[in-house]
Amino acid sequence: MITVALTKGRLFKDFLKYMNENDLNNYIRALDGETRSLYTIVDNVKFIFAKGPDVPTYVESGVADLGIVGSDIITEDTFNILNVSQLPFGDCHFSVAALPDQEEFRVIATKYTNIAHEYFKNKRQDVSLIHLNGSVELAPLLGLSDGIVDIVQTGGTLRDNGLVEHEKIMDIHARLIANKRTFYTKEDEIYDFIKEIGVIE
Ligand code: PRP
Repeated sequence: MITVALTKGRLFKDFLKYMNENDLNNYIRALDGETRSLYTIVDNVKFIFAKGPDVPTYVESGVADLGIVGSDIITEDTFNILNVSQLPFGDCHFSVAALPDQEEFRVIATKYTNIAHEYFKNKRQDVSLIHLNGSVELAPLLGLSDGIVDIVQTGGTLRDNGLVEHEKIMDIHARLIANKRTFYTKEDEIYDFIKEIGVIE
């Protein structure tokens, strides 16, 4: 049995879409339900559902053997895991966004302070960062910050709040991550799962 950590957020919807497109019916039946249960077992694979930033924590500890996580999470924080491969879904990007007429960025609100710090440091731009836990679009609207560093996927959240992208920072993709020990001790089961979801031929 192997354990795979998933997150129930936007990445999960993209994973389900990918499974539908690739006729992975066995997994879809088990995963695409309205249950609040935090785990489910399909044959030899136990799926657990965690918050995005917790997926690498489960994988690092070995409680989960594999994880599917956005590259945003493993770029923002450092984890002792194997970064196995990019997955063909979950594409979005990080941007600096603000009101359309904003010209200067001195204060930025974000959930991703490490990524924002690195970005502005590389640009040699002196910016103060305010850490928020979500709904960061509110900050420039209320005058808490000049802009935000945040994930943009469809662009709908920015549009609905009258904000626009000013600078693109980096692309984000879903990634398959693995525990450094069990990736080798459970090699055959892991290989079967990776092959089944079509990540390798
Ligand atoms: C993310 C991000 C934006 C939104 C962007 O938030 O922080 O708010 O998605 O997506 P869009 O471009 O498709 O509109 P998330 O839903 O993860 O929740 P959060 O506000 O708690 O960060």
